[in-house]
Amino acid sequence: MRYVVTGGAGFIGSHIAEALADEGHSVVIVDDFSTGNKENLRWADGVPSVRVVEGSITDISLLRDACAGADGVFHEAAVASVPRSVADPVGSNAVNVDGTLNVLVAARDAGVRKVVLASSAANYGDNPNLPLKETEPPRPQSPYAAQKVMNEYYARLFTELYGLETTCLRYFNVFGPRQDPSSPYSGVISIFIDRISVGDPITIYGDGTQTRDFIYVSDVVRANMRAMNSEYCGVVNVAGGRETSLNELAAVIMECTGNSSDIRFDVPREGDIHRSLADTHRLEETIGRVAECSIADGLSQTIAWS
Ligand code: UD1
Repeated sequence: MRYVVTGGAGFIGSHIAEALADEGHSVVIVDDFSTGNKENLRWADGVPSVRVVEGSITDISLLRDACAGADGVFHEAAVASVPRSVADPVGSNAVNVDGTLNVLVAARDAGVRKVVLASSAANYGDNPNLPLKETEPPRPQSPYAAQKVMNEYYARLFTELYGLETTCLRYFNVFGPRQDPSSPYSGVISIFIDRISVGDPITIYGDGTQTRDFIYVSDVVRANMRAMNSEYCGVVNVAGGRETSLNELAAVIMECTGNSSDIRFDVPREGDIHRSLADTHRLEETIGRVAECSIADGLSQTIAWS
């Protein structure tokens, strides 16, 4: 089979592309290398079944070329930062909404069977009705979330209007190798591992009782593969269905690294969600249980990589 992975040099996209190549598929990676990086593609050096197309999803002719002859598209490219979307709603909309529309049009016109799109738990906003079901109304609280909600509507429309199969995967808190720890808004696990590994202090915003539903990147790859092969079209949570508090997380990372770091507590971040937990029934019923990796095992593998 031939697959396109947009954002294929990024954290999640590069793992999807690598898994596809490992399974013997031919892969076209589309990435503008704005946040993706060449280090994430070292595994592709000299692999003839992988083609890297450098360019943006805002360029539809580039996407038409990438989609020619493809069976499926994994759409991971995005300006994935909430604060960047707040600072530049127009610029992030151009990539996250117009770019996604280009991906859907290019896939439709090339006769691609299915597009699996990266969506986000951000779509739920600060919703206290835990565990969060896909049937809850979206409550976007940032331009980024509003753009991801719009992606879901477009995906559904392309299925209804043009018969292009689509599944939108609402990722919860994904972690693992290749996640960049360098920004203050990077995933908390990448930041904590970066600091704790060298014994530097970590900061917990709030009292550390806030929870997240963390999922290891290989499990997210499994969800993508199964979604591509499934006939189900719609929105699906991708999460472990487990709540872990920040205090627990810090303790497990210290245990896994064998290091200890001072913990500084600071005021909660503005707009921070206190608890997050996914309902995973739809995931299990449509594409199967994907969270095979425990938090501790996922952390060990991430620490080994870092
Ligand atoms: C995540 C997504 C975000 C999305 C949101 C939807 C990531 C990186 N971000 O944000 O795009 O909009 O889900 O719900 O996946 N924290 C600390 N110390 C640190 C860093 C973070 O205490 O040094 C805390 C945060 O305040 C937060 C928790 O850790 O309470 C998780 O933070 P983070 O990894 O940034 O993810 P979310 O805030 O859940």
